[in-house]
Amino acid sequence: MILVTGATGTIGGHVAALLTDRGVPFRAMSRNPADLPNGVRADFTDPASLATAVTGVDAVFLVTVPPVPSAEHDIALVDAARGAGVRKIVKLSAIGSGEPFDGATVGTWHVAAEEAIAASGLAWTVIRPPSFASNFLQYRTMIDAGDPLPNLFGDARQPIVDPRDVAEVAVAALLDRAHDGRRYDVTGPELLTFADQATILERVLDRPVKTVETDLHTQLTAMGMPPEAIAQVTIGANWANAGGVEYVTEHISRILGRPARTFEQWATAHHAMFDAMR
Ligand SMILES: NC(=O)c1ccc[n+]([C@@H]2O[C@H](COP(=O)([O-])OP(=O)(O)OC[C@H]3O[C@@H](n4cnc5c(N)ncnc54)[C@H](OP(=O)(O)O)[C@@H]3O)[C@@H](O)[C@H]2O)c1
Repeated sequence: MILVTGATGTIGGHVAALLTDRGVPFRAMSRNPADLPNGVRADFTDPASLATAVTGVDAVFLVTVPPVPSAEHDIALVDAARGAGVRKIVKLSAIGSGEPFDGATVGTWHVAAEEAIAASGLAWTVIRPPSFASNFLQYRTMIDAGDPLPNLFGDARQPIVDPRDVAEVAVAALLDRAHDGRRYDVTGPELLTFADQATILERVLDRPVKTVETDLHTQLTAMGMPPEAIAQVTIGANWANAGGVEYVTEHISRILGRPARTFEQWATAHHAMFDAMR
């Protein structure tokens, strides 16, 4: 039995779908699992609910998005998993976590979580993606309105990854002990600026997709992000903007036996989701 946390989210949703396709038994964790196939109600802030969710589980896919970045949710799951005799945790982290930059450290909360998992005595795999191609879905309304999309990354190039590829690597790690104790930077196959991505989307959708340089702090404040969270997120964004993530790895092609999907392939596959907004 596998526990998929973040099952209503981007990567966890794909992991749940892949496990369903393969006939692997799993529980899909959510705070509101009403219509979720195989749903189990649990909250990282409620240890009793976590204890129920991990009962009889062999491996956990762990996604955490606390409102202010911290390892607390990861550590709560680790505690529950140890108590229940779980064998392995596959953690979704982020590329660059632990990198020193400008007198600070990128992704300290993911590093603290990775360290807690490694120290737990459980088997683990850490998956560290860069920005997801699917982040563009948040801009569907703006694209429809013809508004320019906020470019928070300047001219920095990033190896944008298809979230389905991240999920496929996660499933491999959940099912195959060969990935125990491994930390994978899972990147897409090419380096793209934000403007490059907009140009590709424009071509695929056959609609204008313009961008405008936007200040990150202003944008995150407008989105309602707490100041403590903005401070932490900004370190990673500045690191990426300075070219920290301008590299491509071969983990996806090596683990999955096929090339990582391109941003254009992602955009083509999600054409209908953009059209649905019209
Ligand atoms: N987006 C990117 O470009 C990117 C790039 C690299 C790394 N990452 C990392 O990826 C992770 C986010 O993954 P994602 O985009 O797949 O997530 P997501 O789509 O934002 O979904 C978040 C999930 O977390 C669940 N959740 C939130 N609070 C919870 C709580 N208190 N208890 C239980 N479940 C809770 C939500 O479930 P319910 O609401 O149903 O409870 C939801 O399924 C983060 O750790 C981030 O640092 C993201």
